[in-house]
Amino acid sequence: MSKKVIIIGASSGLGRRLAELYAEEDCMIGVMSRRGNLLKELELQYPGKIFIQQADIANENIGLQIKQLIKSLNGVDIIIIAASVIKFNNILAEKPETETTDINVRGFTKIISAAWEHFLETGHGHIVGITSIAAARGNKAAPAYHASKAFQSIYLESLRVKSKYERNNISITELIPGYIDTAMGKGDRLFWVASPDKAARESKKAIDKKKARAFITKRWWLVYHLQRLLPIFIYDSVVNGSWKLKSKN
Ligand SMILES: NC(=O)c1ccc[n+]([C@@H]2O[C@H](COP(=O)([O-])OP(=O)(O)OC[C@H]3O[C@@H](n4cnc5c(N)ncnc54)[C@H](OP(=O)(O)O)[C@@H]3O)[C@@H](O)[C@H]2O)c1
Repeated sequence: MSKKVIIIGASSGLGRRLAELYAEEDCMIGVMSRRGNLLKELELQYPGKIFIQQADIANENIGLQIKQLIKSLNGVDIIIIAASVIKFNNILAEKPETETTDINVRGFTKIISAAWEHFLETGHGHIVGITSIAAARGNKAAPAYHASKAFQSIYLESLRVKSKYERNNISITELIPGYIDTAMGKGDRLFWVASPDKAARESKKAIDKKKARAFITKRWWLVYHLQRLLPIFIYDSVVNGSWKLKSKN
């Protein structure tokens, strides 16, 4: 039987490519994001396979909107949360910081609560969160983004352990990308940049295997763990010292 998959943040980048890969496998897919015109494109690309719901995950009632999307699909097996924003914020203005936490932390948590409740009712399910190597350490250019990715990472790990001990049949996967050539992956010091297609194929493989954690691509394991090991004086000067990134906005 073909799977039912919901992808939040499917209008562009990694989420969109994942939606295409699942559609090519004859899955039924629910897609959500703010740019409804891009979701419509997906619907036209794969007629009869895509259910769209335009929504901003920062909305107070996002949990209800997730449940509506689950209802349109008549159930769901996998919920993938790709939606996030990064705001480069050198002056530490309040708005970009709180916009980031509203989406990457508050919205993320609300989606997981709705997914968890549904999967407990049905007795099975798989939640996939897309974090980042940014979760490894802080960064002066985008403090809220790095902190939000650390939140997502620890939250997913907590749920994975919770599921294991509760034996509730809910699988948890954390995908940890390095750089991907998407709207979000812009900057002047990028290396090992994966195409969205490569990143999506590796991500899908990890999801199919229900891996607890997977680095996308695999070699980012090294950078993540090196960053974690660096003493403060090296981390501050080498990694943060000359960090300049171009903002998407
Ligand atoms: N690209 C990289 O180098 C990189 C590196 C590490 C981790 N990641 C992670 O990979 C994931 C996918 O990002 P990407 O690289 O594919 O970037 P992207 O092309 O900018 O995709 C981000 C997606 O999130 C959606 N989104 C953002 N805010 C939303 C909101 N408030 N409500 C609903 N949807 C929202 C966007 O759709 P709308 O704008 O239409 O709402 C879009 O579909 C993110 O979690 C990101 O943190 C990316």
